[in-house]
Amino acid sequence: MHGTSLPWLDPIIAHRGASGVAPENTLAAIRRAVELGAHWVEVDVRQTASGHLILMHDATLARTTNGRGKIAATPYEKIADLDAGGWFAPDFAGEPVPTLEAFVRLASKLDLCANIEIKTDPGDTDPGDTDPGEAEAVGRAVATLLRNQWPPNRPPPLLSSSSPEVLHGAAKMAANLPRGLVVRRVPSAAKLCEQARECVSIHVDHRFLTQAKTAHLIKNGYAILAYTVNRPARAKTLYAWGVAAIFIDYPEPERWR
Ligand code: G3P
Ligand code: MG
Repeated sequence: MHGTSLPWLDPIIAHRGASGVAPENTLAAIRRAVELGAHWVEVDVRQTASGHLILMHDATLARTTNGRGKIAATPYEKIADLDAGGWFAPDFAGEPVPTLEAFVRLASKLDLCANIEIKTDPGDTDPGDTDPGEAEAVGRAVATLLRNQWPPNRPPPLLSSSSPEVLHGAAKMAANLPRGLVVRRVPSAAKLCEQARECVSIHVDHRFLTQAKTAHLIKNGYAILAYTVNRPARAKTLYAWGVAAIFIDYPEPERWR
C-alpha cells in the first residue's frame, strides 16, 4: 500500500475532535470541529472490560471524566454514567463518553472522514506492556465494527495505532480499511519495513520530523501525517516538506492553509 491510497485525505485533521475548544473525544468536540470547517477528525478508541469500544485517549478515566480506574478494567455500564465534559468547562458538563458506534453514526450524518487511532497501551504509570494477543484482539474488534457499520458509500476510515499487533488484527478482519503506523520518532528502515509494510501512512510527532526524514518516508511510499501542530508557521514548514496532513487542536482552515 502507498500514501497515494488516500486521495480523500485533507491537510487538516481535527485532533480528538476540536479538542482545543471542546472536551476531547466527545461528540461535542466532533460537532465543533465541523462547525469550524474541518472535514477530517481523529479520535482515540479503547476497549472496556465488557468489550465495548469507546472514545478515550488515556488508559485511565481520571483526566477526562469524573470517574476513576482503568478503562480496560471497567465495564461500559459504569463508564456510560460518567461526565466527560465538565472537566473541560461547565458548559460541557454532562457530555457522555461516546461509544465508537455513536461516533460512526455522527460522522456519517456530518459527512466526516475519520482517522480512528486504536490505543492499547496500559498508560505511563503501568510498567507492563499490553499482551500482543490482546492488542491484536482489540484491532480485530475495531475493524469488525467498522466493517459492519461504517457507511459503504463514504470514504473508509483510516485506522492507526502505535501497536503493529493492533494493525495486524485490524488487517485480518477488514483488509480493505487503510492503516497507518503511529510513531514518536521516524523508525529505522528495518523497523519500518517490519512494522509498517502494509500501511499507507506514518503518523509522526512533528517535533522529531526533519525535511530529510520526511523525504525518506515519502520516497518509501508513505503519506506523512504529523501530530500535534498548533502553530501556523510550523504547519507551513511541514507542508512545504511534503507532509500530507497535520493534526490540530484548533481546526479552523483559514488559520492553517
Ligand atoms: O494519531 C495522532 C495523535 O493523536 C497521536 O498522539 O497521544 O494525541 O493520541 P495522541
Ligand atoms: Mg490520538
